[in-house]
Amino acid sequence: MSRKTYYITTPIYYPSGKLHIGNTYTTVLCDALRRYKDLKGYDTYYLTGMDEHGKKIETVADERNIAPIDHVKQMAEETRALWDRLEISYDDFIRTTEKRHKTVVQKIFEQLLDQGDIYLGHYEGYYCMPCESFFTDSQLGENHTCPDCGRETDLLEEESYFLKLSKYQKRLLNFIEENPAFITPETRRNEVVNFIKQGLNDLSVSRTTFDWGIKVVSNPKHVVYVWIDALSNYISALGYGTDHDEKFQKYWHGDEVVHVTGKDILRFHAIYWPILLMALDIPINFRLHAHGFYQGKEGKMSKSKGSLVYPDTIINKYGLDELRYFLLRELPYGGDGVFSPDSFIERINYDLANDFGNLLNRTISMINKYFEGNITRQDEISHQADKELEDLVETTIKTYEENMENFKVSEAIKDLWRLISRTNKYIDETTPWILAKDTSQKPQLQNVMYHLAESLRIIGVLLKPLLLDASQGLFKQLGVADKYQTWASLSFGEILEFHVVKKPTPLFPRLDAEKEIEALSAIIRGEDDPEITPVDEDNLATIEDFNKLDLRIGKVIAAKFHPNADKLLVIKVDTGEKEPRQIVAGIAKHYTPEFLEGKKVVVVVNLKPVSLRGEQSEGMLLAGSNKQTLEILTVNNLDPGDGVQ
Ligand code: ME8
Ligand code: MG
Repeated sequence: MSRKTYYITTPIYYPSGKLHIGNTYTTVLCDALRRYKDLKGYDTYYLTGMDEHGKKIETVADERNIAPIDHVKQMAEETRALWDRLEISYDDFIRTTEKRHKTVVQKIFEQLLDQGDIYLGHYEGYYCMPCESFFTDSQLGENHTCPDCGRETDLLEEESYFLKLSKYQKRLLNFIEENPAFITPETRRNEVVNFIKQGLNDLSVSRTTFDWGIKVVSNPKHVVYVWIDALSNYISALGYGTDHDEKFQKYWHGDEVVHVTGKDILRFHAIYWPILLMALDIPINFRLHAHGFYQGKEGKMSKSKGSLVYPDTIINKYGLDELRYFLLRELPYGGDGVFSPDSFIERINYDLANDFGNLLNRTISMINKYFEGNITRQDEISHQADKELEDLVETTIKTYEENMENFKVSEAIKDLWRLISRTNKYIDETTPWILAKDTSQKPQLQNVMYHLAESLRIIGVLLKPLLLDASQGLFKQLGVADKYQTWASLSFGEILEFHVVKKPTPLFPRLDAEKEIEALSAIIRGEDDPEITPVDEDNLATIEDFNKLDLRIGKVIAAKFHPNADKLLVIKVDTGEKEPRQIVAGIAKHYTPEFLEGKKVVVVVNLKPVSLRGEQSEGMLLAGSNKQTLEILTVNNLDPGDGVQ
């Protein structure tokens, strides 16, 4: 029999800034759900990616003085490296600037135009550039500010294509009513229903005010509205609309399709996307889960407040399972959560180190102490406490499954920790240290040990999608063979014997809470200790890589402020060649032109020349930096043109 299929997606994130704990949450959540389905034996497929078009991205690239295509490429690389670091099990990473995506979007647009679902019209309205949205008078804030971000809007008149949402409104409402599980949580579903009931206006689906986007083939002065472009990724990545659409046939027309997003983009996924699918005559057989937001201690996390939390430094210092556990546990189903240093450190100490890690440690130590590491199932014995523990194991397996199927991952974790507490309590009830004093109680004692180990094995299997190293570590220390790590083995008493390791290794060392809360607060404030970032061993450069750079000593012969950019200096450097080189460097906040003149510096001379705000730059100065300061590297006794190795 062929396996059931499961297709899960994250939003494709904007490459407008470094990805943070919020994007990480969604991506880890999908990873956990996907691993859960793997555990159950599904044929799974996990898609994530980047939403690379639009005015906002164009502006960010401009601010960095690089072409949008270079900016998005760099961000996509950084993002993939981050997901790899987090061991995210994605199968595909789609970027909307890829040809495989663009051709599909263009085809979809033309088809809808031919069908009459998209028509050309005019738009007059208040436009918010950062949000890329038009608003009506009644939606605007005071002084025509954007209702979403609060910034000023511009009154624009624009020729625009429109998608006929109104035509599909009734069908969509029926669909939602007939499929109660389509949108979760229920509160989000109600929001969507109320919104649709107020009546849908046709949606403007093209722009003429910028061109960093996918061109409308039949009218290239228009680019496709970023949301039509973005939403289509869920099918373009599967090869929809091409002659190699096997993945689309298999996964979209398969058993389960799940889109996970935050509550911020509910409307796009619950209204525009299904309507697009209806218009394209593609079945809407996805479920949408729109989760809440992580906030900082002082409310909404934002770049401007400096309260954004980034995952990489946290993992380097505290570990991946620790971060995964916190993220998945702390955001309640249907609500928002807070990422605070205190709660992070407390969860590591209480839940992971104390309750869970200690239970494993004690169990292994006792099995060694009383039975030299080897125990077998004791079938003749059954006490009330055994029965209670066995029952809770069986119930926990059921509720875990139900919760995971319904995206209630934090509830599934709570149930697991209830079982962990119950197993700890079982030790107090059965008092193994007293049983050990009486040799006639040996079988009783062995029965207790078996119950502890078997409960832990099942906890380990249920933890597999959530904690990666910890579940593997548990199996290794308890000596659990692969076939007892499966979904099929999830029944109390399945395993006949345990041969545990001689000495337990703590899975989660306890942290010095006061010290670590302080350290984590500093990391979040961006004052992290650079010592904690290890060398990335997957990314070692060879000597050949290094030799590709041509480094020379140069002498600064003139320097001035860049006429159009505060941060830049334009510097003329003698590098021993015929003509001096012009280099544009982002060091105006740290050096005056006068200071630099006469200094001997280290220059990369074989960099591809670029134009930075209209000034040609033919090389780069080397400098060292940290959060507070930047210092260019200088030498005293060498001459222009001398080599550097
Ligand atoms: O909206 N807590 O991209 P985006 C939890 N490109 N999740 C959060 C979060 C927080 N504080 N902040 C962000 C876009 N997220 C579009 C999507 S999809 C066809 C196009 C997560 O970079 C959450 O999943 O703004 C949210 O929906 C998403 O990041 C928004 O990412
Ligand atoms: Mg956003």
